[in-house]
Amino acid sequence: MMTSVENAPGWRLMEASDLASVSAVAAEVHPDFPEDDAVFLNRLSLHGQGAYVLENGATILGYTITHPWKSFDIPALNTILGSLPDRPDNYYIHDIALVNAGRGSGAASKIVSVLSDHAMTLGCETISLVAVNGSSGFWQKHGFEIVDRADIEAKLRTYSDDACFMLRQLR
Ligand SMILES: CC(C)(COP(=O)(O)OP(=O)(O)OC[C@H]1O[C@@H](n2cnc3c(N)ncnc32)[C@H](O)[C@@H]1OP(=O)(O)O)[C@@H](O)C(=O)NCCC(=O)NCCS
Repeated sequence: MMTSVENAPGWRLMEASDLASVSAVAAEVHPDFPEDDAVFLNRLSLHGQGAYVLENGATILGYTITHPWKSFDIPALNTILGSLPDRPDNYYIHDIALVNAGRGSGAASKIVSVLSDHAMTLGCETISLVAVNGSSGFWQKHGFEIVDRADIEAKLRTYSDDACFMLRQLR
């Protein structure tokens, strides 16, 4: 998908050469959740179809990293995954992050829709994420609900005090 036109940001699939820009966006948007460049490269190589950048001309305004996964199995922050499950039942949004200049245009909503469609084509039953930065309202607008489960509580607290697990049924 490539929808960029001049002065209108558009999403396109991420490439390894985007890494420096993606890392710069992450450092600006997520100073409290630092992750090594190797983590971005790891997800890109495991599931490139789920990694996009939001581009406006030559400027990267945001990115998303996502992959098929297992329900309620939250990857630890800044961790390399060895492989993806053979039979994923869940599609995991590792992150969507936009710098301020990229927000408010509906770009984030658009990529959530693209990712949800993609997850359905893979046969995933649910799509989920860990919401941080007070973003749960954004996700609720897209049909995600907060799930409280004792078995993931400790993992959530390794993200932040207010991190919550959010899930949407796809089928
Ligand atoms: C969350 C984020 C991706 C949303 O991007 P955005 O550009 O504002 O999203 P959109 O323009 O598609 O907004 C869609 C709707 O969600 C709303 N919204 C956006 N952020 C929101 C929030 N934190 N709480 C409640 N609603 C929010 C918008 O107001 C808009 O509402 P509308 O459709 O009624 O006008 C962006 O704010 C961001 O990158 N935040 C920092 C990183 C982050 O926290 N990512 C999520 C990690 S889990």
